Amino acid sequence: MHPDLINLENTFQASVLTKIDDPLLSEFSIELWMKRDDLLHPIISGNKWRKLKYCLNHALSLNADTLISMGGAYSNHLHALAYTGHLLGLKTQGIIRGEQPTVLTPTLVDMQNWGMKLTFVSRSEYSVLRQYKAPQALPDIKPSEYWLPEGGAQLLALKGVAELVNEIDVSYDILCVPCGTGTTLAGMIDAAPRQTKLLGFAALKNAGFLTTDVNTLLAKPNIHWEINVHYHFGGFAKTTEELIRFMYHFENKTGILLEPVYTGKMMFALYDLIKNNTFKPGQRIIAIHTGGLQGNRRL
Ligand SMILES: Cc1ncc(COP(=O)(O)O)c(C=O)c1O
Repeated sequence: MHPDLINLENTFQASVLTKIDDPLLSEFSIELWMKRDDLLHPIISGNKWRKLKYCLNHALSLNADTLISMGGAYSNHLHALAYTGHLLGLKTQGIIRGEQPTVLTPTLVDMQNWGMKLTFVSRSEYSVLRQYKAPQALPDIKPSEYWLPEGGAQLLALKGVAELVNEIDVSYDILCVPCGTGTTLAGMIDAAPRQTKLLGFAALKNAGFLTTDVNTLLAKPNIHWEINVHYHFGGFAKTTEELIRFMYHFENKTGILLEPVYTGKMMFALYDLIKNNTFKPGQRIIAIHTGGLQGNRRL
């Protein structure tokens, strides 16, 4: 590992396991825990560091001086990338989906303040860029530049995600994570003990394609996993009053902040599934808090 990355990681807080204390869970004899990757770092939080770590190491080993990636106007991935690039003294470029808004979102303002060069492209141009996955795959990329696909969805990301699974030092039956590109889920499937069931919760609508995407990333597909596509609340980043009410209620009860795009939807889904007797009494579920709390500024 590059010394700059070791030094950076040494500044991080621990991602602790927190047991959710709730009479409803006792009523259904379910133990629900959260692995608090949101606590790792105030900005490079959650699955962001897990997915970026080995890609950054690769970029540094190639002597790249510029990191380029793509995302939306509230992208947690680009936000974390811009800040990490700023800390590591690397240049960053963000290709943003859609026309430049008259007023930049707080996420984009942060990214710009950390030195990221922003380029806005039409939604159709953006879709075309999704096909480029490998570090040098972007057309016209220079040898000193390193490309990260949307959401940091690269094979090297799986290695960092495996570390989060390996940190879990209690036994468990079910491991849950929200899905955007499905990369974090894929890394968890590869690293989880064989008897575990992995559950992903799609944050976007019509996410049937995710199962194929995750399958293509997997080195070890012979473990029981599935992606629940029913709790998208109307689509990516869409919310309902019911979801927001649930989040506030959960936050008041546990002191754990959620955000509405990923972790809010996953926790809502888990509570709903528990209330519908989907899990066996006595089962222990661990949900990964994938961070992204900066996204709450969209609320
Ligand atoms: C907070 C948060 N949780 C979950 C995800 C989903 O991760 P993945 O794209 O690896 O499925 C993302 C997107 O990267 C995210 O920002």
